Amino acid sequence: MKNIAVIGVGYVGLVTGTCFADLGNRVTCVDVNEERIANLKQGILPIYEPGLEEMVRRNMAAGRLSFTTSYAEALNCPEGSAELVFIAVNTPAGVDGEAELRYVRAAAETIAQTMDHPLIIVNKSTVPVGTGDWVADIVKNKQPKPIPFSVVSNPEFLREGSAISDFMNPDRIVLGSLDEEAAQKVAQLYLPLRGPIMITDLRTAEMIKYASNAFLATKISFINEIANICEALGADVKEVAAGMGYDKRIGRAFLDAGLGYGGSCFPKDVKALAHMANVQGKHPQLLEAVMQINADARRSIVAKVRALVGNNGAHLNRLEGRTIGVLGLAFKANTDDIRESQPIDIIRMVQADGGMVKAYDPVAMPNAAKVLQNVKLCEDAYEVAEGSDALILATEWNEFKNLDLVRIKRMMKQPVIVDGRNLYDPSVMRELGFIYRGVGRGY
Ligand code: UDX
Ligand code: ADP
Repeated sequence: MKNIAVIGVGYVGLVTGTCFADLGNRVTCVDVNEERIANLKQGILPIYEPGLEEMVRRNMAAGRLSFTTSYAEALNCPEGSAELVFIAVNTPAGVDGEAELRYVRAAAETIAQTMDHPLIIVNKSTVPVGTGDWVADIVKNKQPKPIPFSVVSNPEFLREGSAISDFMNPDRIVLGSLDEEAAQKVAQLYLPLRGPIMITDLRTAEMIKYASNAFLATKISFINEIANICEALGADVKEVAAGMGYDKRIGRAFLDAGLGYGGSCFPKDVKALAHMANVQGKHPQLLEAVMQINADARRSIVAKVRALVGNNGAHLNRLEGRTIGVLGLAFKANTDDIRESQPIDIIRMVQADGGMVKAYDPVAMPNAAKVLQNVKLCEDAYEVAEGSDALILATEWNEFKNLDLVRIKRMMKQPVIVDGRNLYDPSVMRELGFIYRGVGRGY
């Protein structure tokens, strides 16, 4: 059992802190957002993540997990001061794609000003290579009197929607530090998980995170490029991915063609890595192509809708007078997150083209309502279908897998489905009488 403080109760911090508590540690989570902390004290979570609410409540009841806005309470708690503090604040993208570090700076400064005993400071947030050294400098310069500390980089690899299982069954745990003893202490926390633990230097650990996410994003853009070629040549990208995936050197994961990647990590991380390369005078050509292909994946969905139900002739406002239904608003299934959401982008493109939009998502509608204008948010998929000229399947929620498609077809104005996630079988859809387009499925 160790005493741990976690700074930031977003996705990363809340999942990390709760899972460490579940492994028997005493965890205090601190956040500057008073509303979030007040809600968490009552067991109300700021995010939707399957299984997390139950785990938070259970660990709070057991006295292993608590929430505060006070760094002093989290770090220097009289019942046992923290030995380790995890920084898990947000690092949004700046104007040039660089990761914004003002929240990390603020957290590091407050730790320095608050700590009254030696600490291991562990960086969980995705930060540019070199940030660990920068955090160490900030803490050293801001401490009122010198107290020993070490900085360890411990990048997270949690996927939203399966974050708890990703935490509990890690493919690997990466720890970077110049202080071997500090890295070993962090490693001890992860021993119950039995995953491989790799200890390396700070900058290499930071780079492993970017390289991993950039590689996965590259896989997605690669298969979207192949999908594009499949469409032209009459091949089926789903079968192509399956055939490729049997090769152990390739693997089937992250070869689903569709709308391209969205979310809070891949878009930001690929951009930030390219930015770091550019600043160093390198030319990240592959990363640039990955980003361009990803942007095209969204555009090509709208192009398909336009080609199937758009007005002839005029170049602008081709969707004027058309109602387009969008199923799904989250950037992927099992999350309410709409950061860098492909469906939201697609809706804006449809609107820019003069189209009316109806949409439904099982959990992301409250978040989407804050950023969308003039979209009719519906009760379910059937209400979306009613009177629509085309449906775009935009998020692969389970509840969209077994829709009553006969009913959907009956309710639509035109039986047109553009399936951005390749959820349906093209031949079944045609038999049902739909005009159906997937991504990369030949025609
Ligand atoms: C990602 C990383 O996977 C995780 O390790 C961590 O670093 C945070 O970022 P997350 O953003 O939650 O996790 O989602 P992920 O499941 O990786 O999907 C990212 C995006 O890629 C989604 O929009 C998803 O729909 C898309 N995707 C994924 C595809 O288009 N095709 C695929 O084959 C896989
Ligand atoms: P992520 O998805 O990376 O976890 P989120 O935006 O979901 O990011 O959450 C980050 C959390 O960090 C927010 O709750 C925010 O209030 C908190 N935060 C930001 N800066 C600080 C800080 N200096 N001290 C404590 N918490 C902070």
